Amino acid sequence: MGSLMPDLPPSNSPTLALIHPTPEEKLATWNLNGQSWRGRLSLPAYICRETHLENQDFTKDGGITFWILVDTTADLNMRPILGSCESFRKRALIARGDEQVDEIISHGIGSVFCNPEFRGRGYAQRMIEELGKKLDTWQQDEGKRASFTVLYSDIGKMFYSRRGWHAFPSTHIALPPISGQHKELPSSMPTRSLYTADLAELCALDEKMLREEIGRPAQSEPKIQVALIPDVKTMKWHHAREEFAAKEMLARVPDIKGAYIKTDAGDQVWCIWTRTFGSDEAGNTLDILRFVIEGERLARSSESEPIILEHSDQAKVQASAALLQAAQLEASKWDMKDVQVWNPSSLTVLAARELEPAAQVIHRDEKSIASLRWHGVDPEERSKVNWVGNEKYGWC
Ligand SMILES: CC(C)(COP(=O)(O)OP(=O)(O)OC[C@H]1O[C@@H](n2cnc3c(N)ncnc32)[C@H](O)[C@@H]1OP(=O)(O)O)[C@@H](O)C(=O)NCCC(=O)NCCS
Repeated sequence: MGSLMPDLPPSNSPTLALIHPTPEEKLATWNLNGQSWRGRLSLPAYICRETHLENQDFTKDGGITFWILVDTTADLNMRPILGSCESFRKRALIARGDEQVDEIISHGIGSVFCNPEFRGRGYAQRMIEELGKKLDTWQQDEGKRASFTVLYSDIGKMFYSRRGWHAFPSTHIALPPISGQHKELPSSMPTRSLYTADLAELCALDEKMLREEIGRPAQSEPKIQVALIPDVKTMKWHHAREEFAAKEMLARVPDIKGAYIKTDAGDQVWCIWTRTFGSDEAGNTLDILRFVIEGERLARSSESEPIILEHSDQAKVQASAALLQAAQLEASKWDMKDVQVWNPSSLTVLAARELEPAAQVIHRDEKSIASLRWHGVDPEERSKVNWVGNEKYGWC
């Protein structure tokens, strides 16, 4: 056993570096991390999925970057891969309270992995520290610095917060699937199903409204508003993932990607979802990627005050309940254990409770912890950051 183990450098060795893998090394990382992450896909199918996902509009042409930690003194292709991860380029917005909204490039980190044989030696820590330094300037214009990057921790809050990615609100509300045969459905409002062809226009409208929202000066303390842009490329990447799994495991492809409704007052309310096919243990979830309630911000009161609903808010709650119910019906058709909405707004929570009065907002402390690192030169600014639209679409 011991004789098979390569001589490994200490994790603080100056010869270690975070670099891009060769094609063979990338395949080696998938073979290894597929053991943990393939879920119910076979390992070859998992590798096909990863190849498919790196060739989407969101990921191709440098949208995804693969990284490995290696000892640079070792032979190419013989060198042990001490750690691996990916970064995804994400369009993002930032506003500093003066009504100016800037579009910037952020990154999301995913697939942080260390070979089980090499764990506990500090390589993952070193890799994340090196990645933080790389992402300060990675894919930024000459002389520019990143403002923030994100990740979604599955190992609690400590490991990443020690390295600069601090935990942000990570809640969800879950609703059970319901079958169409259900005797009496709580909502009788008709919704329209959303298909892939509907998404570009809605995402563009969402982006426009998001720019207006984050550009509005914050009412309380000075805050830096940041958001990842929920654009159609991002949604399609999630859908490529669900479609690959559905085709592979169920030999059918889900075409309904969300639901839409307009209130009598003309406010548009919609949600875009994806089906997450998990392991036998985790089960399947219908994840709401993005929930949009037109004009919702105007109706929001501060978090500490009880919300006083006006007539137009009531209509939005009813419309949102109709959408959530459409999601529950879809979840039932696809054998999903629940519908989940991440960081639901007050109106969305009220809508969920129209359907399930006992529905609770769950605060996660272990899995999918939305974490943000401030790369700006002034570290004091970190505490002022408000992450708007911190929903599932940002996950990677
Ligand atoms: C998470 C992982 C990359 C850590 O690798 P490692 O080699 O054990 O990490 P290191 O030796 O560099 O660092 C040890 C640190 O990681 C923490 N850690 C390791 N695994 C952990 C886990 N499952 N939960 C919480 N913390 C964990 C240790 O507590 C220690 O933290 P500290 O130094 O802040 O006290 C590795 O266990 C792995 O690949 N796991 C499977 C994939 C995975 O879960 N990836 C993370 C996705 S967010």
